[in-house]
Amino acid sequence: MASHKLFLLPGDGIGPEVMGEVKKVITWFNSRDIAQFETEQGLVGGAAHDAHGQAISDADMDRAQASDAVILGAVGGPKWDKVPYDKRPEAGLLRLRKDMVLYANLRPAIVYPALADASSLKRELVEGLDMLIVRELTGGVYFGQPKEITDLGNGQKRAIDTQVYDSYEIDRIARVAFEIARTRRNQVCSMEKHNVMKSGVLWKEVVTATHKAGFLDVALSHMLADAGGMQLVRNPKQFDVIVTDNLFGDILSDVAAMLTGSLGMLPSASLGAVDEKTGRRKALYEPVHGSAPDIAGKGLANPIAMIASFAMALKYSFGMGEWADKIDAAIAATLARGLRTGDIMQPGMQQVGTVEMGDAVLAELEALA
Ligand code: IPM
Ligand code: MG
Repeated sequence: MASHKLFLLPGDGIGPEVMGEVKKVITWFNSRDIAQFETEQGLVGGAAHDAHGQAISDADMDRAQASDAVILGAVGGPKWDKVPYDKRPEAGLLRLRKDMVLYANLRPAIVYPALADASSLKRELVEGLDMLIVRELTGGVYFGQPKEITDLGNGQKRAIDTQVYDSYEIDRIARVAFEIARTRRNQVCSMEKHNVMKSGVLWKEVVTATHKAGFLDVALSHMLADAGGMQLVRNPKQFDVIVTDNLFGDILSDVAAMLTGSLGMLPSASLGAVDEKTGRRKALYEPVHGSAPDIAGKGLANPIAMIASFAMALKYSFGMGEWADKIDAAIAATLARGLRTGDIMQPGMQQVGTVEMGDAVLAELEALA
């Protein structure tokens, strides 16, 4: 059996707690001889800053590059509010994305039947929701230069961020969206702001050209990103795949995540290009939620997004889609049994902590195996 190299980066806040639950799932796969995972662990974010003054060390970057998949918890927290900008915890995550060229960020938003009432929207609006945001992750205003604050000398300062996209960056993310749409309901909605931004004009032009050149079987629509945000809370079930840039994708994916009841439910995959020689692609899997410093260390965090992120690794990195489906089914079954962490707690349900939730999902997985 081929062995897969996983590089675990628990990070900060609730990261180590939710990673603990994924480690149990990994151990389970190994002990059942379903797959062979080798794990190594490193530091990212504030944890890395405390250990060696950088948000990720060069040695850990090398280990990430050499792995078959990086599994990341969360970064950041108030403890590091005052560290220099280039050493802040988030810089570690951004370096991983950029240096590994993980340009395609997949953020599914799925409403589990048992949670349809946990959403802030009415049940009928979200029941059965299954959409995917494909966010461009290595370009745009996150990385564009110049990016600076200058002193104008007259008591004023000026801040500049640069939104920049080359056509190849738009083309490659559009391809990912079209290809995935073919495996789903075959619809892509592209979101930008061509009414005020040149990058939006180019975005729309390139997406349209890519569609014409090879994906005419997929239904393509365009929406201004602000209208898209409005439609996401008005009628989210109209969407199958949304493709958008780095910043709009950041915002819209938080909105989409909340439709499902809690940020604690949503996994993500960040993928690089497929290597023509090996057929493999660099990849990082992380929950959409942050480090939740307010509940860190209390055993209260919801491990579902983290476990579901590992399921995405099985699907997108290891050709184990049927096991990914089983993990998702185990999560659905656990929720159907009435178990809830605090973030998704509802009247009449049984409130449990991180470890109990992880154990319950594993028990359901065992039952489905
Ligand atoms: C996300 C996060 C990150 C981002 C932060 C932590 C840098 O919000 O992954 O959505 O803005 O991309
Ligand atoms: Mg975000």
